[in-house]
Amino acid sequence: MKIFWQYPLLISIFTIWGSTESTRWPLNFLSDSDPQQVRISLAGKNQVLVSWITSDKNVESVVVYGKVSGKYDNSSVGQSSSYQYLTYNSGEIHQVKIGPLEPGTLYYYRCGGATPEFSFRTPPSVFPVEFAVVGDLGQTEWTKSTLQHVGAMPYDVFLLPGDLSYADTEQPLWDSFGTLVEPLASSRPWMVTQGNHEIETIPVLHSQSFTAYNARWLMPYQESQSTSNLYYSFDVSGVHVIMLGSYTDFEVGSDQYTWLQADLKGVDRTKTPWILVLLHAPWYNSNLAHQGEGESMRKTMENMLFRERVDMVLAGHVHAYERFTRVYDNNANECGPVYVTIGDGGNREGLATTFESPSPSISLYREASFGHGRLRVLNSSHAHWTWRRNNDTTVADEMWLKSLSSSDSCNGSA
Ligand SMILES: *[C@@H]1O[C@H](CO)[C@@H](O)[C@H](O)[C@H]1NC(C)=O
Ligand SMILES: *[C@@H]1O[C@H](CO)[C@@H](O)[C@H](O)[C@H]1NC(C)=O
Ligand SMILES: *[C@@H]1O[C@H](CO)[C@@H](O)[C@H](O)[C@H]1NC(C)=O
Repeated sequence: MKIFWQYPLLISIFTIWGSTESTRWPLNFLSDSDPQQVRISLAGKNQVLVSWITSDKNVESVVVYGKVSGKYDNSSVGQSSSYQYLTYNSGEIHQVKIGPLEPGTLYYYRCGGATPEFSFRTPPSVFPVEFAVVGDLGQTEWTKSTLQHVGAMPYDVFLLPGDLSYADTEQPLWDSFGTLVEPLASSRPWMVTQGNHEIETIPVLHSQSFTAYNARWLMPYQESQSTSNLYYSFDVSGVHVIMLGSYTDFEVGSDQYTWLQADLKGVDRTKTPWILVLLHAPWYNSNLAHQGEGESMRKTMENMLFRERVDMVLAGHVHAYERFTRVYDNNANECGPVYVTIGDGGNREGLATTFESPSPSISLYREASFGHGRLRVLNSSHAHWTWRRNNDTTVADEMWLKSLSSSDSCNGSA
């Protein structure tokens, strides 16, 4: 298992190590051509990208799939690549687009023609649709608890607003993370954006940022006319989801800025009445951790989101949960987005336990507990947001949202 065990010294204090091996079978029994770290993501209309890694560099990037277990009517061929980071050489990363697929349908598939069989369900084409939302996931015992909670209830698409593996330059931790999330990430689309832990530059030694993230977590940026894997958008049922990059250029006139402008202009609210935005560093935050870090991005982009009536902005970075009311420019505003910080997935740095006191009036609920959020969009006008802690099964916080496109007072351009 060379891609895992090449650099044992780099795999230092991680507690998760022993437990990642049980997800499929002991990794020692895998052959070099067996698929590892299998995951899927949405990749344009009715298409899904299947990604996996093999130690063997010469395995063909082919996915066979079909609607009946063991019977694969269709197949697609894609491509593969690898990357180098200091002395670490990644395994072969395979990326294969499959489709056209039918909505709300269970597909069975195999990677590289090898066993085992995996399966996933495509999101529905119409409401209702449900998103599971987890930020700052990591790979600790808390992470495992969060993933168990997410997997225990049905959902269609997994959204992650940054900070995935906490590899922090130790590349084998990207592999253990891929193995840890495989049971969920191979069965529902995982749509992610970057956090600060994905940057992974080392002065002089490795100046390129996002090397591992971009190589391993390809998102549909080309399909959404973006020029960077660090920001993109996609549609699910009647929801337009925009993934922004907190750690790349966002100034007025930057590529991300002009892309966002064009992307928002292109939204057809009759087809996608809802708009969600995800990014890593929160624009609103009353926790003492990471105060002000999202401020310059907020000042540049908040008015665009407000003008286009974005419904909700979900952030990570702060290791706690916080929900704000609808806000624009620091004040409650019935036509602004609801802001939520959901950076409580299970990272190894622990919780951010101290909040500003007194609580600002725009902050409606805050708590430092590990957990996850869910947005169930019922129809073009109503959605239900819930947040659950990992330590109990009941809903700790919830809210009904009315889409701004269905609101008489906010509809129409500002
Ligand atoms: C296989 O692909 C063809 C063409 O893309 C499509 O018409 C057919 O429905 C697919 N079959 C399955 C089982 O997905
Ligand atoms: C949308 O769902 C809400 C909540 O279930 C319901 O009250 C409302 O009537 C629905 N609206 C439409 C147009 O179906
Ligand atoms: C769960 O955590 C919250 C916040 O830390 C705490 O208030 C609550 O009592 C805990 N519940 C259980 C069942 O441990």
